[in-house]
Amino acid sequence: MNDKKLIFSGIQPTGTFTLGNYLGAVRNWGPLQDEYNCIYCVVDMHAITVRQDPAKLRRNTLDSYALLMACGIDVEKSILFIQSHVKTHAELNWILCCNTQFGELSRMTQFKDKSKRHPDDINAGLFTYPSLMAADILAYNADLVPVGADQKQHLELARNIAQRFNQRYGDFFTVPEPYIPEKGARIMSLQEPAKKMSKSDDNPNAVILILDDKDTIIRKFKRAVTDSEAEVVYRDGKDGINNLMTIYSTITGKDYAAIESEFAGKGYGDFKLAVGEAVADHLEPVRTEFARLSQDKSYLKECCAAGAEKALRYSQRIVSKVYHKVGFVDKG
Ligand code: TYM
Repeated sequence: MNDKKLIFSGIQPTGTFTLGNYLGAVRNWGPLQDEYNCIYCVVDMHAITVRQDPAKLRRNTLDSYALLMACGIDVEKSILFIQSHVKTHAELNWILCCNTQFGELSRMTQFKDKSKRHPDDINAGLFTYPSLMAADILAYNADLVPVGADQKQHLELARNIAQRFNQRYGDFFTVPEPYIPEKGARIMSLQEPAKKMSKSDDNPNAVILILDDKDTIIRKFKRAVTDSEAEVVYRDGKDGINNLMTIYSTITGKDYAAIESEFAGKGYGDFKLAVGEAVADHLEPVRTEFARLSQDKSYLKECCAAGAEKALRYSQRIVSKVYHKVGFVDKG
């Protein structure tokens, strides 16, 4: 490798990402490839912390891999792989679990939220999820982790784990920095704009999926919850409009002032239509490329295998040193 900084990030294999996933994270991953060494991962091991249909998980994982490629991840420039193909993640996870406190894990808001949503399956994997996420990052000694705002707490914990390990065993891990975009880090639900946009929302109108067709995208934006003021301005208390303005701004590159003057004197109907069209047109090439790539399963599998091999080679060196540091006998 060269002396460029190292980026690591991951995404759950939902098959089709939300507009939140896209604007908060995935969209930014492609452009980073020229400036950094990038490693990106479809985190199927994280996915099984909630119950999954095995056949669907397999399909969604490969679709997510293809979708990352369609979103601009170039397998020649970056290492792109499936988490369960690279055993070092699970190996390092165990060691990090032994360096993570019960109290720290209990404070994670995602654990609390998911425990509420799945009260019949509060499993140990769900609880130790952030330690596996730390292992993903630390197995490569990544410098930067591009994520949306909701992952900040997990990243903070990964930093604490790295620092604790360094204190106990001598300086070794790079303490990773979050890399959170200024705009788009928290895209909200179209139906309840005080809530994060999330694939697990029960109301399909709340969520734009990046593989939705143009009509569906426009229809969902038309139904977006706003307010009764009929004024397109970015202001406290206008959660729905603020969210639509953020989406429109990140897609078009226009700032809020420009958007306010573009829609001055116009109703919300015009604005919602413009946002819907901009989003649908922006995503059109992603949909087309995904349709093409997902036909070619053997090519995708080849890419997965090559990515996993590179990721293993890279992380194996680091995890072997960790094994030695904690006192495991070298295999020789
Ligand atoms: P996941 O799969 O939930 O989300 C993937 C990325 O999308 C971002 N995101 C959002 N950004 C803005 N607005 C939203 N409404 C929104 N919803 C999701 C997330 O912040 C994330 O960046 N635990 C991680 C996956 C992971 C990971 C890692 C990430 C596993 N290991 C190591 C970084 C490094 C997760 O569940 O993301």
